[in-house]
Order: sequence, then structure tokens, then C-alpha cells
Amino acid sequence: MMLSMVSLRSGLDGFVPYSWEISSREIAERYGLRVEDVVRMDLNTSPYVPKKWLNILAKKLPNISVNLYPDTSYLSFRQAVSEYTGRDVDEILVGNGGDECLMIAAQAFLEKGRKAVISHPTYSYFRVCSEIMGAQVEKVPRKPDYGDDVEAIIQAADKTTGLIFLCSPNNPTGNLLKTEDIKKIVENVECPVVVDEAYYEYSGQTCTNLVSSYPNLIVVRTLSKAFSLAGARVGYSLAAKETITTLNKVRPPNSLSVISLELAQTALKNAKQVRKWAAQVVSERKRLAKKLSKFNNIEVVESQANFLLIKLHDRQAEEVHQKLMSYGIVVRDISAVIPNALRITVATPRQNNRLIRVLTKIFERG
Ligand SMILES: Cc1ncc(COP(=O)(O)O)c(C=O)c1O
Repeated sequence: MMLSMVSLRSGLDGFVPYSWEISSREIAERYGLRVEDVVRMDLNTSPYVPKKWLNILAKKLPNISVNLYPDTSYLSFRQAVSEYTGRDVDEILVGNGGDECLMIAAQAFLEKGRKAVISHPTYSYFRVCSEIMGAQVEKVPRKPDYGDDVEAIIQAADKTTGLIFLCSPNNPTGNLLKTEDIKKIVENVECPVVVDEAYYEYSGQTCTNLVSSYPNLIVVRTLSKAFSLAGARVGYSLAAKETITTLNKVRPPNSLSVISLELAQTALKNAKQVRKWAAQVVSERKRLAKKLSKFNNIEVVESQANFLLIKLHDRQAEEVHQKLMSYGIVVRDISAVIPNALRITVATPRQNNRLIRVLTKIFERG
């Protein structure tokens, strides 16, 4: 077979795919570590394993009809989301993680000849799904404090704009976009606007009360962060009923497993536990931020999420990233988009202390 037969379709020639840090197993092999000693502080996941929910699932497993497809309308799960969010079941779309919800929005509204407006820097998957759909991406630079440039976003949204991607709290900078500013944007543009609230549970700020009044607003949420279910792959979108109907037209019919749905329902019933975990992470984030800012070569950016962006002054982020990895601590190197920056997921107090100890060692040794 000729190689050209399996090359990406035209329009995706220079496409840069989504990238991530290497696996814990590869890291362990590369640096002679035990895989269980590798700490992932690069994925913004929760440090808590929801054992109780897994035990409940284990009891239910023998009665789960894995021979059948899930109810494709995911009604029971939507009812649980409805209870959690206060939105109507018809204002909810379910996806295989927040990522699938983002892709569904891109599939519904983007194509070649249309533009996606992205407040940059932000979650890189916004660019990835826009480009996969053939859309051109216009990056609107954030202000020096990483705040969204609301006026510039509105200006950028012209007749060819198919979708605007916003993120609050923003990954990787951790700052919020005010609900008034979201309102201003949705009122002043003629295209759909996605607000990714993946880290909502850590900030407590949401714009979901706007969805029934603004049909061009789509809020994307996930159970991968505060709900501790990244591996189960469950997310949802909230939007006006007619918008959900439109999005559902391009949604894959059976992308969630019956097992994940069962687990996610138990999780939503235990939102009180999730709020406790989120509060613990927030308090640990504050402690870690204080510790990190004691290093005179580190600037810590204030965050409303479960991660911290740090900027290094007299050291190369890439080198510190590699050294941390050699000690089994994986953080995200952000320097391709923010000079000399690393993003660190808040983990358990013990793991966070380990990070501080290793950083001290790295800086002392030069
Ligand atoms: C802003 C944002 N949205 C969505 C996701 C992906 O979420 P999910 O695991 O639900 O696909 C992430 C993951 O890091 C994220 O940071």
C-alpha cells in the first residue's frame, strides 16, 4: 500500500495533534523507578480514588446488562445531572468526557471556511477539534494577567465565526471569566459560545443559570476532575433545549458504557463528598502555592482550579520538567505557550510535600 493512502486528508497537512506527557510505565523504565512511585501532577485529575462508589458498582455489576446498549438518550443519567445542576433534563447532553462534548459542538458548528475564536492560551483541545473540523482558528491573546480580552473576543467574532471557545476556570492559567463578561459575549455575538467549566467544582462559579435565556451558550462539564472519574469518561453539556436538540443530531449514539453510567450516577448522588474533596484540594492548593512562592526563582499564578501555573525565572522550565520526571514527578511543561512555565496539579499533602522536597534538591544542586 502506498503511504499517501493513509496520510491525513487534505487541509490537515500541518496539523499538530493533541499531545501529552509519556506514560508512567515508560517513565519508570526510563529512570529505573517503580511505576507506583510515579506521581502524575500533569493531568489535573483528582488524587482521591472513589473506593466506596466502586464497591457499590461491584455489587451492582452482576445485574448490569452489558449485552445491551445503554439507553441512548441516557435519561437516568440526565435526571441525575438535572438534580445536580438544577437544569431541565432537556437542557442536558451527555458525552464520553468533556472532550466528546467539545467535539460534538465543533462537529455541529465548524467546517472549512468557518472560524473558531479561542481566548489564548487555553485548553489545547479547543484548537484540535476546530482544526479537525477544517475550521480556521483565531487566537485572541489574553491580557497580561491572563484575563480574557472580552472586547477583542467580540470584535473577532465576525460573520464567518462558527464557534467561540471560553474556559472558566481557564486551563492552564487557573483564572475565572466573570459571568457578566460571558453574558456580554453571548449577547454581542451571533454564533454559539462554549464555556468549558471542567474545573467548576473548585471555583464554585458557574454561568449555567444563563443557558435557558441564551440559546447560543453551551456549558461543558466533566466528571473527570472533582468527581474523581477521569478513567470512566463521563461529561455533559448544558444548553437551551433547542440547542441540545441541534447538538444531539451529531452526537454518537452509544459512546458511554453502561458501567460508566452506573458509576457516574452513584457519583452524582454523592455530590456532598465531591464538595468535601474539592474543598480539601482548594485548601491544599493554597498551601502548595505558599510553599512554591518561597522559592525566589518561582512566580506562582493565582488559581481557582486544582492546578497551579508557575513561571520560572532563572531556570529553564524544560530542564526542571525533565529533572522532576527523573525523580518520578510528572508536571506539565507549558513553555510552548507561556514562556518558562509549568503547570502542577494539586495532589495529596504527602505528594505535594515530595514535590517541594525534590524542587529544593534540584535548585540546590544547580
Ligand atoms: C478545560 C478542560 N476541558 C475538558 C477536559 C477533558 O475532560 P474529559 O476528561 O472530561 O474529557 C480537560 C482535561 O484536562 C480540561 O482541562
